[in-house]
Amino acid sequence: MKLQWTDETPRKIQSFAGSARRQDDADDIDDKLTNEHVDQVAEIFSTPLTGAYNWDYTIQDNRIKKLYELGKELNWNAEMDIDWNRPWPEEDFEQGAALMNLTDYPPYVALTDEQKREFWLHQNSWSLSQFLHGEQGALLVASQLASCAPTFNAKLYAASQTFDEARHVEVFNKYIQTRIGLMYPINTSLKSILDKILTDPRWDLKFIGMQIIIEGLALSAFNTARETTPDEVLKDIIYLVVRDEARHVTFGVNYLEEFVKTLSDEEKEERAQFAYEACVVSRERLVATDVFAHFGWDVEEARQRVMEGFVMSTFRDLLFQRVIPNLKRIGLMTDKIRPKFEELGILDFENLPDDGDIDWKAMERPLDVTEEQSAEQAAIKEQMEKIVAERLAQQDTCPVTGRPMAEVLAEKEAAAAAASA
Ligand SMILES: [Fe+2]
Ligand SMILES: [Fe+2]
Repeated sequence: MKLQWTDETPRKIQSFAGSARRQDDADDIDDKLTNEHVDQVAEIFSTPLTGAYNWDYTIQDNRIKKLYELGKELNWNAEMDIDWNRPWPEEDFEQGAALMNLTDYPPYVALTDEQKREFWLHQNSWSLSQFLHGEQGALLVASQLASCAPTFNAKLYAASQTFDEARHVEVFNKYIQTRIGLMYPINTSLKSILDKILTDPRWDLKFIGMQIIIEGLALSAFNTARETTPDEVLKDIIYLVVRDEARHVTFGVNYLEEFVKTLSDEEKEERAQFAYEACVVSRERLVATDVFAHFGWDVEEARQRVMEGFVMSTFRDLLFQRVIPNLKRIGLMTDKIRPKFEELGILDFENLPDDGDIDWKAMERPLDVTEEQSAEQAAIKEQMEKIVAERLAQQDTCPVTGRPMAEVLAEKEAAAAAASA
């Protein structure tokens, strides 16, 4: 084993030969991985972890126990449960350009068709790489939770989550290396949140940061990725991962709801402030600035451009539709913090359903990767469409066609009336 210790997070893009999407390797990546070049690059973090034994081994027959049992039952294996041999699908680049507000952005327009293909490959790689790095963060945090969680059930649950996260790292890594062929480094905002969670001594803060914020955001991001990817392999992967993540978030909400009640007001405000700050940083990390830099664009200008687009700004807010109700449920949407969320424009979500009340029927469904749209997925889609429609209605002109919004809405209504007649 060749180990290479580093103090700095690597910033290079890695390339893997022979992927489904990228048969021939373009020669623009510095960090090609070959067999003679398999150093394990490891970055150290130090943590003042306060662990706890549990000596009474009390198995409380509660929701946490039930979630643990479900975790054992619903285990899946990336090698066996996913058909990796499906061909790479056709892609519609122009739709991506419209979604990201790049259709008439001069540096994008100047790209040849081949370069555009390459650009979207990089975008795709960037998003999936952030999923992968986030999963590694979850793996490290979950393993810490097994040590620090004070109750017996929670320790067992955290251990089972650790194994879930290992499989998530495994499956996204395999997807990136064999399907995409390119891996981006971790985004600096995501890294800073992970650093904070991993190195804070307070176990409940790790819970809040991971189970409520990062996993809550991931649930929404995964669902969007599943909706938009043309690749059936990725759809299946996300279906399986989301099943696990929904359990993790539910565990977090149920466990924290009880615990937060025991905190003093001052301690609660501290946690609420931390949650808010993590949300602010997370909102900023959505744009693939490393991809713009790779293509030699003016990074700040391109970032602005993408963020101002209607779809991105709506998507950015939609990500919080699980996080905000859950923060409220566990008692961290305090009077002092609410106005700050209102300022971010994401307080509207506070009355959406949270993950505290468990839909056991949905949780217990057997695994079935051929299932095209689960009931949950359909409900999420419907909710997303509703929120997008509400935001669209607030616009003067249609962000896609530039036509007056009133006209577009009248047409839609007429079409809906005709369809139901
Ligand atoms: Fe995960
Ligand atoms: Fe998770």
